[in-house]
Amino acid sequence: MGIRFRNVSHEYSSYTKKTYKAIQDINLSIEGTNEFIALVGHTGSGKSTLAKHMNALMFPTDGSVEIFGSEVTKKRNKKIKYNDLRRQVGLVFQFPEYQLFEETVEKDIMFGPLNFKVDSEKAKTLAREALSLVGLDDSYLNRNPFNLSGGEKKRVSIAGILAIDPKVLVLDEPTSGLDPYGRQVLMNLFSDIHKKTNKSIIIITHDMDLVYRYFKRVIVLKDGELTFDGTPDKLFQSDIIEQNHLDLPNTVKALKQLNEKLNLNLDVYQKTPEAAAKEVRRVMKHE
Ligand SMILES: Nc1ncnc2c1ncn2[C@@H]1O[C@H](COP(=O)(O)OP(=O)(O)OP(=O)(O)O)[C@@H](O)[C@H]1O
Ligand SMILES: [Mg+2]
Repeated sequence: MGIRFRNVSHEYSSYTKKTYKAIQDINLSIEGTNEFIALVGHTGSGKSTLAKHMNALMFPTDGSVEIFGSEVTKKRNKKIKYNDLRRQVGLVFQFPEYQLFEETVEKDIMFGPLNFKVDSEKAKTLAREALSLVGLDDSYLNRNPFNLSGGEKKRVSIAGILAIDPKVLVLDEPTSGLDPYGRQVLMNLFSDIHKKTNKSIIIITHDMDLVYRYFKRVIVLKDGELTFDGTPDKLFQSDIIEQNHLDLPNTVKALKQLNEKLNLNLDVYQKTPEAAAKEVRRVMKHE
């Protein structure tokens, strides 16, 4: 059991009565454990909309999303406890401002556990642990979340979801706006959580270096449609990249340039700068 999208569309309507189909006829299966998925696509392709369907924060206007056995459709079903689904699938929003609302960081992180009936002492401990996982020390506990920097807000909103310990984690651009070191720390954290707990993790990102290096599976959206579902290796070695207005990882781009400019025959599909350097050394030795 995990998350299954069956012919899911979501059409936004606005007061002007114009409607806009943000995702269209999506069929997708995400296992409840063992997935490490990158969700990519150009700006406005429907990634955040799709993510909000993964924990019933948004309801499809067509089709259905099965979340750990509960069938979520346009019509509300009194038998389904939608709040429970949000505990099973934790979603970190793209813009942390929408997630943070308490007057201290500690209260903010404790909110989820308290809401799910954890006692207050335990919730405090969970808050501390989650904060340290995202790389912030205890001095942040009494700070006002609204006075934090963008990157700090992002970390606190991630800590808030980690404290709930959901079965599946969905993170909407968790590393955007962070410095390279912070990005690395968080990616290592997600990767560690995945390896230690086998939890399924879905991360929305525009960073193709991260996609290539860390993920087992990539899902691509283009204009609201699912256009690719497979491994990063397959994605970056195909012309789907250009068709979907996506970029290649930097290692691949640099090695391609070297092949063209210096007329080399490098295997360009290297995931890290270290691997790229090794490949250059290997070929240079034979020149
Ligand atoms: N509340 C809304 N009302 C009307 N249209 C919306 C609403 N939210 C999003 N849209 C539209 O739906 C489309 C998909 O939006 P979405 O936020 O899912 O894209 P995204 O892939 O997450 O983009 P980004 O990479 O910029 O975060 C966009 O064209 C957007 O303008
Ligand atoms: Mg988005």
